[in-house]
Amino acid sequence: MKNMNKSSANGPAASLKRLNPGNQAGDKGYRPNWGTAVLLVAVASILLAGTWYLKEGESSFRVGSPAMKTYYAHSRMRIVDESATRALREQKMSDIGGVLVKDRKFPEEVRGKFAALEKRDYAAVLPDSLSRIMESLPEDAARRITGVASRIALSFQDSLSVGAELPADMLWRSLETSGLSIPEQNLAYQILDHVMERALVMDSEVTQEVRSLAASEVEPVERVLSVGDIIVREGEVISPEVALVLRAQGYPEAFFPWKTLAFIVTGVFFWVSWMGWFSRRREYHFDARESAFMITILIAGWVAMSLSSLLGGNGLGVIPLAGWAFLALPGSFAFQLVLWGGIIGSVITSGGSSAELMLSVFTSGLTASLAYLLLRKITDRLDLLRKMALLGVSLALGGFFIGWGLYLPSGGTALLSLSASALAWIVVTLAALPLWERLFDILTPVRLVDLTHPSHPLLKRLQLEAPGTYHHSLMVGTLAEAAAEKLRMDPLLVKAGAYFHDVGKLRRPQFFVENQQTGLNPHDELAPSLSALIIISHVRDGLEMGRQFGVPKKIRVFIGEHHGTTCLHYFFKKALGADPDLPMEQFCYPGGRPSSRESAVLMLADSVEAAVRAAAPAITDSRELEEMTKEVIDTKVAESQLSDVPLTFQDLTRIKAAFIETLKHMYHARKVTPLENAGDTPREPAVS
Ligand SMILES: [Fe+2]
Ligand SMILES: [Fe+2]
Repeated sequence: MKNMNKSSANGPAASLKRLNPGNQAGDKGYRPNWGTAVLLVAVASILLAGTWYLKEGESSFRVGSPAMKTYYAHSRMRIVDESATRALREQKMSDIGGVLVKDRKFPEEVRGKFAALEKRDYAAVLPDSLSRIMESLPEDAARRITGVASRIALSFQDSLSVGAELPADMLWRSLETSGLSIPEQNLAYQILDHVMERALVMDSEVTQEVRSLAASEVEPVERVLSVGDIIVREGEVISPEVALVLRAQGYPEAFFPWKTLAFIVTGVFFWVSWMGWFSRRREYHFDARESAFMITILIAGWVAMSLSSLLGGNGLGVIPLAGWAFLALPGSFAFQLVLWGGIIGSVITSGGSSAELMLSVFTSGLTASLAYLLLRKITDRLDLLRKMALLGVSLALGGFFIGWGLYLPSGGTALLSLSASALAWIVVTLAALPLWERLFDILTPVRLVDLTHPSHPLLKRLQLEAPGTYHHSLMVGTLAEAAAEKLRMDPLLVKAGAYFHDVGKLRRPQFFVENQQTGLNPHDELAPSLSALIIISHVRDGLEMGRQFGVPKKIRVFIGEHHGTTCLHYFFKKALGADPDLPMEQFCYPGGRPSSRESAVLMLADSVEAAVRAAAPAITDSRELEEMTKEVIDTKVAESQLSDVPLTFQDLTRIKAAFIETLKHMYHARKVTPLENAGDTPREPAVS
């Protein structure tokens, strides 16, 4: 939206104009319109807060708080059943009783104990009963028993492993081969039993690790959540796990969406810069009123989207923005405005619900694309109604399909609701158009149709007071419209420009040859300089009358530019006879030169029509018609009247072809009786 405030340089000049391609490096020195961005951010923040506040109590949730309502799944998804998974993991952990590990101090302790036994300090190691038996034995027998026990103990402690039982069988087998007597083997076994009882200990740390390992190996238990399944019932506390599902299902959370706000602020600033850069590249220049119009429809569009979201969330609130933008702004600019305005509007109005956001974003994209195809060229009211209806039906069906694709509620009721919503928004769109036209002086196809209707007060006056000029204007309109169609311009705009271009002649109609039905020419009685002054003044008079009769600014531009800065050479030459030092400037139109392709087409159509009508009696075949058309266009190019507009040679060839084709119909098929002399400078037929 950059340059929105830039007024055009030429008088009441083109609000929308294309400059000379040489100027288009206008990117240099480009400054984004930060004021617009700040305003949009402020409005977006208010709408975001408002939508969030109104939706918060209704459907948002808070982790750790009871659910305000029962939440249902509205899309199918696989979820982890946290409670089942937790139960299974606890089961696995409880299956592990405890982990026995080797006591690393065991060999040292065993050696210490056997050292005490060798010193016959039995009481320190053995229980009293066993200690007394050992003390009662002869020393060599006691040493033999403790020696065997010591050897076996040390050989066995290495073979003990985690969780292993004391290997009684193996101990006995070792004792049997030790050479001890049976009673001695018994004593040795009892000694071993005491000494080795702490060989294995339970390690709580390791036990915990093993339990955790076992738990982690348990795969999460999954289950499928189908549409309509209950996620959490009203009153149940929302756990973090349930919150995850609710978020995934697009339910908004009960905290102010600061991240969304930050996104919107950044997004709006980037977007305003982008729109500015885009309009600069495309050479769209918008004046203050048009800028205000764009900001207004954008804000109104966002409000419509908020209402749509609060009333049902079907995303069709973008329709008014699309309708207003495409009916009043250049197609590619309107597309950027609707697409990105719609996406930012979706973020603002979805209230944190991701399902609604997706629906709204898809709908915005679809609306921008369909409106681009349908609304760029409107021929009349019926055409507008037909295309708006087609847009509404397509969007209702498209919205239904998008909702179905996103697993949102679909069915007859949803389709009915979408259709009703589309119809309502189309009515709002059409109802607001006259308001925008009045407030911002914008041109919609409907307004252009009204302007070109013969019942327009100014055109009615032309019919009555200057019928020749009225007829000339209609002919120019037909020519210009044909060329505009060939060059893919707005034919209705050019036609309206043609109908009003000579309204200034209403002040003194009899001074223009097409209105001299009686054959009397008042210029015969006037000084050439005065004649020139009167003729030239029809441009200024036209601008004044246009303003007086509420003719839109874009149409008044055609009035101001249709003669460019051309000069009345006939009167100048005539005047030179009396005063050879006469400056030529007072015989030239003030201009400016055409500032848009549309304005250039009108200038050419006006000149060609006047020249051909003046020469019509002498024209005998179509070749002469072609030569005359070519000569008029070449003269305008040679006089640099078209140097401010990017018309290529190919464009000029197309314009010429369209003119010739139309003129052939006018002067041959229709058998129009040519008037003798035509246009504003009757004695100089090559100039209108
Ligand atoms: Fe004129
Ligand atoms: Fe004219």
